[in-house]
Amino acid sequence: MSNLKQVVVIDGEGIGPEVIGEARRVLRWFVAEKHLGIETRDALYGVEAFRRTGKVVPDQTMTALRTADAILFGATGGPAYDALPAEAKREGNLLRMRKSLDLFANLRPIVAIPALAEASSLRSRVLEGVDFVILRELSSGLYFGEPRGIETLPNGERRGVNTHAYTSSEIRRVARFGFELARTRRRRLCSVDKANVMEAGQLWRQEVQALHDAEFADVELSHMLVDNCAMQLVRAPAQFDVLLTDNMFGDILSDAAAMAAGSLGMLPSASLGPVGPDGRRPALYEPVHGSAPDIAGKGVANPLGAILSLALALRLTLGEPGAADRLERAVRDALGTGVRTRDIMHEGGRLVGTRAMGDAVLAALEQTA
Ligand code: IPM
Ligand code: MG
Repeated sequence: MSNLKQVVVIDGEGIGPEVIGEARRVLRWFVAEKHLGIETRDALYGVEAFRRTGKVVPDQTMTALRTADAILFGATGGPAYDALPAEAKREGNLLRMRKSLDLFANLRPIVAIPALAEASSLRSRVLEGVDFVILRELSSGLYFGEPRGIETLPNGERRGVNTHAYTSSEIRRVARFGFELARTRRRRLCSVDKANVMEAGQLWRQEVQALHDAEFADVELSHMLVDNCAMQLVRAPAQFDVLLTDNMFGDILSDAAAMAAGSLGMLPSASLGPVGPDGRRPALYEPVHGSAPDIAGKGVANPLGAILSLALALRLTLGEPGAADRLERAVRDALGTGVRTRDIMHEGGRLVGTRAMGDAVLAALEQTA
């Protein structure tokens, strides 16, 4: 077996191929110029996969996903995806992939880069010092709870049902991940719930507190109700270090938090599973923005979410924290030259497309020592 780390790259749909194209160029640069021991392989997924194999996630892709050190994923969704047969989508969509790889820990770092202050809807004094991580539980809760479905009642009315449920072990494993993460940062964790209304929220709070008291008393723990948290994210986002949420709340709050980073287009993510018997943990890296069908194929999408997702992969899975630091610095330097994709454009910025933003990052990489 080769001792090269294996990265499986999936373009997906919408702007996925465009933004992943730039991340791929950056990864190739590191391999060619810095001789990182990384091998990449493309895998078919989604609309393209269905056209060629009749499956959204072909068996070969599933095997590649299971054996990869890291998966770099573009985006999924949009009209072409929606038009696929319901059966095919059920069998293999992004949520299924998250579930079958047991990717329970979803990290969404939010950093306010000073050069992008003008692109944010928030005032620059509010953005000062913003550097936190949303840790979203990704494999359970309202997204997966049973029973679920749409039923027709005897009176002819239809009723839609989803179930918000968490077990204590599901809460504890993501909370443990959060406390350990906090120990590598500013040692503060804020846990989000709706314990004033929901039983699942009460259990969430009790379990997080109990684990804290038993093993992580050195981490400062606070609890926040989700509605208050939504307000605090736009009022004073710099207060957060690690923000621990369930699946649904993390989905919503991370979109709101994106404005502190200037745009949803800037946000990277890492989704990690449990450590397996061989010491590896499944890991999927993807930009948070999604497929953005309205701008797909136009060459205007922001590739920095995808490129920063690659930086997370370098740091968390590929054993290359130095390369990760260097890449994040290159992104800041590139932005420092004034280049802006549409989503982060502001007065005084220089409007560029996806490719040119990738070029700017590569140029900055060349220049960093
Ligand atoms: C996200 C996305 C997904 C989610 C969608 C595409 C299913 O919004 O990763 O935040 O809701 O988890
Ligand atoms: Mg979302």
